[in-house]
Amino acid sequence: MSTAASSALCTGSSEKDIELTFIPGAGLGQIRLDPMQIEQILMNLAVNARDAMPEGGKCTIEAWNVCFDQEYVSHHKEVALPKGRYAALIVSDTGAGISADHLPHIFDPFYTTKPSGKGTGLGLPTVYGIVKA
Ligand SMILES: Nc1ncnc2c1ncn2[C@@H]1O[C@H](COP(=O)(O)OP(=O)(O)OP(=O)(O)O)[C@@H](O)[C@H]1O
Ligand SMILES: [Mg+2]
Repeated sequence: MSTAASSALCTGSSEKDIELTFIPGAGLGQIRLDPMQIEQILMNLAVNARDAMPEGGKCTIEAWNVCFDQEYVSHHKEVALPKGRYAALIVSDTGAGISADHLPHIFDPFYTTKPSGKGTGLGLPTVYGIVKA
């Protein structure tokens, strides 16, 4: 379990009950990455999950082996990756989700729907930048 994610979920959430579950897929392959960066990714996504569940709820972190073949990458241009084997990290929460109006902007630097002074709008652009690098 990520300590970054669990402490992010606990910070500032003393009055709400958030259940954090980690589901590691079977036979997870090894990947090469900077542990500080994965912590940063998990922390940003966990903080977003926490903020999205003001009344509490569930946050789930899953990791799976995935394989994109040529047919898949040709039909899913949004994946923007060459065919190959990857590790998928999925963070989900039981909050209200992101409306279709906001969705196209969530990776834009400084885009936030949080009240003034609450969010910088840099969390998801940071995650995107790390994943793209
Ligand atoms: N789990 C989520 N549930 C609902 N909306 C989300 C979630 N994650 C992100 N968002 C939306 O995407 C916007 C951008 O997220 P991002 O992490 O980049 O900035 P932020 O969370 O607003 O600010 P900061 O990361 O500095 O606290 C959020 O303001 C929110 O509208
Ligand atoms: Mg954020």
